[in-house]
Amino acid sequence: MGASFIPLHPVFAAEVQGLDIRRPLPREAVREIDEGMNSFGVLVFRGQPLTQDEQIAFTKQFGELDIGFRRVTTAGGPLPPHRFGYQELADISNVAIDGSVAARESRKIVANIANQLWHADSSFQQPRARYSMLHAVVVPPKGGETEFCDERDAYDRLDEETKARLEGLQAEHFALHSRFLLGDTDYSEAQVKAIAAVRWPIVQTHAGSGRRHLYIGAHARAIDGMTVAEARMLLMNLLEHATQREYLYRHRWQVGDLVIWDNRCILHRGRAYDFTQRRELRRSTTVDVETERQPQTA
Ligand SMILES: [Fe+2]
Repeated sequence: MGASFIPLHPVFAAEVQGLDIRRPLPREAVREIDEGMNSFGVLVFRGQPLTQDEQIAFTKQFGELDIGFRRVTTAGGPLPPHRFGYQELADISNVAIDGSVAARESRKIVANIANQLWHADSSFQQPRARYSMLHAVVVPPKGGETEFCDERDAYDRLDEETKARLEGLQAEHFALHSRFLLGDTDYSEAQVKAIAAVRWPIVQTHAGSGRRHLYIGAHARAIDGMTVAEARMLLMNLLEHATQREYLYRHRWQVGDLVIWDNRCILHRGRAYDFTQRRELRRSTTVDVETERQPQTA
């Protein structure tokens, strides 16, 4: 039996039924998911509780794994303690290393708040992230949803004058930009330098669908040939355009959900929740190796 795709929104996002992703998939099913990703951008699997091993094995069927922002935290020192058996599993939670709920002033909570800004995972590096796979282990009683928007649809909705203006513009993305915005500035020189800023075109062609799309988000801090003020205003205006409420898919988490999105053309953000309540999500991510020649190191 093959996968079936049930649309969750008029523009993008679908729920996938008919697959057990806890077991190795036949090549045909991997291809079906890839095709579903190329058209829907966000795929939701319900009721599939995954162990860490199962999540890693599932993700590897779609490419090499990304370690992302942990390259900053591990820079210039020994590997910091991690709650998971794999460095490639990102701990998207408000839980401290000892298993308790993280203190309000801790960096873990800053990370949660940074996740509430619209972004594409690992847009600050080359190669960037392609698929993020987020799995719900513990969900809070209220809030903590994840919202998505499709930057292909956002591009299509731009007027022709704006499309022409954006053509050829290069934005600089930096791993710590969103942290600095939130006042989280206490990083060593080695950490600041761990991931050099990269440039990406603001308008790109999505390799999977051939559609043009925006590529923006909270890691973008500058645009070549513009003043900082001009660039940031343009980036904020584009973000506001892309993320209008009617064009969003809001995912309300249930334990056992796995949601996959394509960071090349999808932006996402976490929503607020009570940080004294546990929210434990586990993210695995693939590296977008086919398009790694696109950016230039800043
Ligand atoms: Fe993210």
